[in-house]
Amino acid sequence: MLPDFFEFHAPTRLVYGPGLVADLEAELARLPVRRFLAVSDRAVADLGLLARVTRGLADAGFDVVGEFFDVPPNSEVRVVENCARLAAELGADGFVAVGGGSVIDTAKAANVIASLGGDLVLDYSGSGTIEGPLLPLVAVPTTAGTGSEVTSVAIVYESDTRTKLPFSGTALLPTLAVLDPELTLSLPPGLTASTAMDALTHAVEAWISPQASPVTDALAARAVQMITGTVETAVDDGDDLETRGILLIASSLAGIAFSHAMVGCVHGMAHAAGGLCGVPHGVANAILLPHGLEYNLPAVGPKLADLAPFVGADTHGLPEEDAARAVIGSLRALGARLHDKGALPARLRDVGVTEQDLAAIAEATVMDGTSFYNPREVEAGGILEHLRRAY
Ligand SMILES: [Fe+2]
Repeated sequence: MLPDFFEFHAPTRLVYGPGLVADLEAELARLPVRRFLAVSDRAVADLGLLARVTRGLADAGFDVVGEFFDVPPNSEVRVVENCARLAAELGADGFVAVGGGSVIDTAKAANVIASLGGDLVLDYSGSGTIEGPLLPLVAVPTTAGTGSEVTSVAIVYESDTRTKLPFSGTALLPTLAVLDPELTLSLPPGLTASTAMDALTHAVEAWISPQASPVTDALAARAVQMITGTVETAVDDGDDLETRGILLIASSLAGIAFSHAMVGCVHGMAHAAGGLCGVPHGVANAILLPHGLEYNLPAVGPKLADLAPFVGADTHGLPEEDAARAVIGSLRALGARLHDKGALPARLRDVGVTEQDLAAIAEATVMDGTSFYNPREVEAGGILEHLRRAY
């Protein structure tokens, strides 16, 4: 069924190529930037990935006037403010973010303050509150998961309220996304699996979203197919460049899809479990994906059933609801196989969540911004029931 209206706007220039970060001159030639602030984290720097990018920028004739490493696994308001301050002190006129979602989101949010001034939380948190223009931002992902290199969203943790604050607006879209799969070769099996499951969750939640359109469907379905078909190979053999490339591209496809169609209660629960109990985002999504889909099943059965060919589920001759359950079963089986390989935890109890936390996670899920876009009304009692199954 066609939506009454949809809009698709994906202005981020996307370039892909193994070894691309060593040869950025042509890609950057048209950007009005001379003085980049590089944003990254210690782990990415220690692996030498940041240096590969900054060398590429220097070879292309750009100055990297500073490097900001102090990004924790979940970016925080204080970190964003420090990053923006450094950009102003050094007179940076653009950002290059080299890392996973937390790094790219830090650079996006710091760019808001550096470009527009004001208070990050008071002036800009929420949806559609950021009017540009911002300084150019080049995003170089080192994980294949968040899709932040192509999304209009940044998520920043606020420690006072233990919540993950969303920021969104088309101004947050990076100017250029550089997909170089060589940068993801060093990802260990656990991070490979959890980041891929995050990307898979973006694609699946975009697919069943009430905001989905034929354009986002095309992106989401292909992303689902690419991720489910390769993630196990990537976990088994991290040095397979082709597989790494497929996952990196699929992560961006899923990112573009959910940047338009949004995500739902799987992400709502993952944000809540991350904010309250520190569960890493991809791990939370991996555990919660089948449970959130079961919660949504009464509202999305036919659409979910249509995903069968892209997850490799044989649903020939099955009634629609059974076919939808088979899709959920395929996704659950994928998670279980990744668990058997030692790449993913299986349950919330394995990742620092206690039984007493579940009610608070359910309440926070209802309050999460994703509730607004979930195909079924997000109601604490029903969510709690599914959280208990995931526990
Ligand atoms: Fe996510």
